[in-house]
Amino acid sequence: MNLKKEFIEYFKSKGHVEIPSAPLIPENDPSVLFNTAGMQPLIPYLMGKKHPEGTRLCDYQKCVRLTDLDSIGDKTHHTFFEMLGNWSLGDYFKKESIEYSFEFLTKVLNIPIEKLAVTVFEGNEDIPRDEVSASVWKSLGISEDRIAYLGVDDNFWIAGETGPCGGDTEIFYFRSSEEVPEVFDPEDERWVEIWNNVFMEYQKGEDGKISELSQKNVDTGMGLERVVAVLEGVTDNYETSIWKEIIAKIEDISGKPYKGNETSMRIIADHIRTSVFISADDAGIVPSNTDQGYILRRLIRRAIRHAKKLEIDTNTEFLEEIAKVVIKKYENDYPEIKKNKDIVLNILKNERIKFNKTLEKGLKEFSKVLKQIDGKIINKDIAFKLYDTYGFPIELTKELAEESGLKVDIEGFNEKFRAHQELSRTSSAGKFKGGLASTGEAEVKYHTATHLLNAALKRVINKDVHQKGSNITSERMRFDFSCDHKLTDEEKRNVEELVNDWIREDYPVTVEEMKKTDAVKSGAEAMFLDKYSDIVTVYSIGDVSKEICGGPHVKHTGELGKFKIIKEEASSAGVRRIKAILE
Ligand code: ALA
Repeated sequence: MNLKKEFIEYFKSKGHVEIPSAPLIPENDPSVLFNTAGMQPLIPYLMGKKHPEGTRLCDYQKCVRLTDLDSIGDKTHHTFFEMLGNWSLGDYFKKESIEYSFEFLTKVLNIPIEKLAVTVFEGNEDIPRDEVSASVWKSLGISEDRIAYLGVDDNFWIAGETGPCGGDTEIFYFRSSEEVPEVFDPEDERWVEIWNNVFMEYQKGEDGKISELSQKNVDTGMGLERVVAVLEGVTDNYETSIWKEIIAKIEDISGKPYKGNETSMRIIADHIRTSVFISADDAGIVPSNTDQGYILRRLIRRAIRHAKKLEIDTNTEFLEEIAKVVIKKYENDYPEIKKNKDIVLNILKNERIKFNKTLEKGLKEFSKVLKQIDGKIINKDIAFKLYDTYGFPIELTKELAEESGLKVDIEGFNEKFRAHQELSRTSSAGKFKGGLASTGEAEVKYHTATHLLNAALKRVINKDVHQKGSNITSERMRFDFSCDHKLTDEEKRNVEELVNDWIREDYPVTVEEMKKTDAVKSGAEAMFLDKYSDIVTVYSIGDVSKEICGGPHVKHTGELGKFKIIKEEASSAGVRRIKAILE
């Protein structure tokens, strides 16, 4: 059974429109490194903005969650996963949502009701106990004994610190061949959560206060990997059809069986899959020492170290060979994987060659350290040297240390690391707080300014300049674009003047909805065409700019103030980066 297809078909039959997976790297949202849930790109619509595809949506969304990085290697954790989701934007609420989930699980997937249990929100000082959900579950045949009422820690969901949120009801499956207990105990690990239905009717502000949203929404998320394991009757996710070919390739290359080498094989499989998705994203991430680039570097290097443990010759193209199996598996579901295949393989190859140069020496240095070490702790200076001189990400040092019964002064390392990182200010400040929900006036202005800058660059440099990425905070904008040379002072001046002329003209910013194909025909630009569904919104600024974009934008360019370029630099091969401010 193709679970993704069944899920989408089911929700389409209930009036939902399928929307494409958003990119893994959120655009215009410096508050998070990766998309962590299907709802993240939908935040403005949960907060009341009209979605061009209507009020019922469904998709499968690429997600990366790094909180579990240390758990990778066990049976159930992954850094990358696919989330199946359906949404009601102010349309149906608890009753239909629960009924749809129940019907899909028991009628389409044929999961016996005896193996299901649920949790619902017990309420707190702000929100009442969710008797509505409980009674819907009972009407469907779930007994009182299989319903647990839990508090904020378990049954209340929010993406970050602020934004749309609400109580939820979670569905659990009894994943064991033992007899199913009559009474559901959420602490019993044989019960695994498979689906979360969040009733987003509130929002949490910067001050921590909960208020009602203008509409009642439903946001659901079902973990694909887990449900496939349920359907295929295995308790090790890595033994499902999702991983079969990838693990077989690792067995083949290493000449070792999965049994007995599970931890390293799972880490290699997981990290390579995630690395493929990060490097295939149109945002153009490459391994580096900051932000998403550093995550990518850590994943690739940890996979290489575990390959060495399996005695794989890391000078061969083993990484690329495993990545090819991942690419083949996903390229039909995710167009960017197909499109950026060669880029991905190159990124992996270059990083492998780079790390190979220092890995051997680093491992020797580590053995030396082991002999000299006094006590049980690897101090921050040694950990930092391993990072700085030999390119060992901290979790690699930690893992090596653990294998020898030692600990690492992680906090001390992090302090040194932060002090060292030139860009640490942007990485630590503000990240992981809030989301698009916190888009303020300043961010909106910068967003409109990126459209003007994009248009100005095309006119001043040439029409083949295209946007490659952007990143906005309330203080500045960053804009990456394709260009083969460093801009001259004259080019920079001309770009600045053109943008400021357009601001002075006070052009109106208008928005219209149209079919994606018509939008492209009409000359509208789009950075990531694949991510948009068939109906798109197009923002025009006078007659100087036209882009497919989700907004939001200012109403008139006159609101922007004065545009000033503060830096122009290389970003990656063939890509330049401008940092600019509005005064
Ligand atoms: N947004 C909810 C989750 O990620 C559905 O669990």
